[in-house]
Amino acid sequence: MSRIATIEIDGKKYEFPVIEVTENELAIDIKTLRAVTGGVTTIDPGYKNTGSCESAITFLDGEEGILRYRGYSIEELAEKADFLEVAYLLIFGELPTKVELEKFHSDIKGQAIVDEDIKKIIDGFPKAAHPMGVLSSLTSALVAFNPTSVNVDSEEEMYNAIVRILGKFPVLTAWAYRKQAGLPLDYGDNSLGYVENFMKMMFKKPTEEYECNPVVVDALDKLLILHADHEQNCSTSTVRIVGSSNAGLFVSLSAGINALWGPLHGGANQAVIEMLEAIKEDDGDTKKYMAKAKDKSDPFRLMGFGHRVYKNFDPRAKIIKVSADKVMHELGVEDPILEIAKGLEKEALEDKYFVDRKLYPNVDFYSGIIYRALGIPTDMFTPMFALGRLPGWIAQWREMRQRKEPIGRPRQVYIGETYRPFKKVEDR
Ligand code: SDX
Repeated sequence: MSRIATIEIDGKKYEFPVIEVTENELAIDIKTLRAVTGGVTTIDPGYKNTGSCESAITFLDGEEGILRYRGYSIEELAEKADFLEVAYLLIFGELPTKVELEKFHSDIKGQAIVDEDIKKIIDGFPKAAHPMGVLSSLTSALVAFNPTSVNVDSEEEMYNAIVRILGKFPVLTAWAYRKQAGLPLDYGDNSLGYVENFMKMMFKKPTEEYECNPVVVDALDKLLILHADHEQNCSTSTVRIVGSSNAGLFVSLSAGINALWGPLHGGANQAVIEMLEAIKEDDGDTKKYMAKAKDKSDPFRLMGFGHRVYKNFDPRAKIIKVSADKVMHELGVEDPILEIAKGLEKEALEDKYFVDRKLYPNVDFYSGIIYRALGIPTDMFTPMFALGRLPGWIAQWREMRQRKEPIGRPRQVYIGETYRPFKKVEDR
């Protein structure tokens, strides 16, 4: 049965097809709206009700708190898969066989060296530069050293660009940290796993061997899986729209890194820790911060709470919360802000303001507490989010290109001045 939606304007009726897709979602296809109505458009700030594309990568059900990558539940993937398997699944659509996974990892390792001149670019940054700014600049700069990855017109070129960025991005992320820490910019060790190698690149001291703690590697691997994709969030939509102009993969990813940096988006994981630290300094006065969050005259928001799509618990937050307790126990780490976080969560979940607005903890609320326990500095939390989200951005960019999506160019509703003749400066 084909469904239709009817819009009536000034007594005239217009019909539009309603498409029903795999998870029984319905969408009004308004591709012909302006043409058939003589110029009528829609308005939807923040695209809260507007689908920008058809995608087969990630499914979210915000009411039920469901998240699936290519049909697999986030709970199963976080428990049973590793990050590189999930990256392959998101990008190519299927879980890899053992042979496919080994080749994928080997091809990535083959790209794990960056041009030495990149170090000259890093040298130009002040130590205090935020690692996200360094990372987006370096990702853009990669184009200069890898011109064949600028635009990809064949599957082979696309694959080569994908393994190239998956090989080099962990190096750039680690170097952004080491620059700030005043450590030499070293490489890792291709005999190690993807996440193990990243931790070694981050923390190896020139004067001693680096021993990876399997608890740390497992926790980080799980965190990266949980961050790997999230359908058309702000940064992913940015990656898609930049790529839709035929801009290359690396510069599209650089744009996504910048969008993720914002504290309303990926920057929230850093903002949550800063908020919890402030509450700790304020004698743990959570009630004061709850009041600030509810005060419309106060720009303060409870960081790590609320979500555009989830109007239930963010399934990732549930997994991270359990993992936080486990990791800290295994590492013997005591962190008073974990108890503050749990207290804040309990209060918010019982508070009418938050309950009425369906504001629950999101992925960023507990992730920073684990990053701290793993020894990762606060302003490296969002770069860790970017490292996790990289395969999702790549998958979405590849899908946009494969589906030959048109260049993204939203309409607007003009509310400015109507025509007025020019006035000479002496007449103004
Ligand atoms: C991520 O989109 C994704 O998928 C993102 C992400 C991903 O994986 O890519 O999940 C990652 O970005 C998670 C979100 C991280 N951000 C934060 O934790 C920052 C704090 N949260 C908010 O700023 C907010 O909840 C957003 C930005 C996440 C969502 O904002 P929306 O959907 O635009 O909701 P809204 O601003 O319209 O809020 C609805 C109401 C408003 O109050 P009223 O006008 O109805 O009275 O809820 C209030 C808001 O003021 N509100 C909050 C709040 N979040 C929403 N009030 C206090 N504290 C908050 N955190």
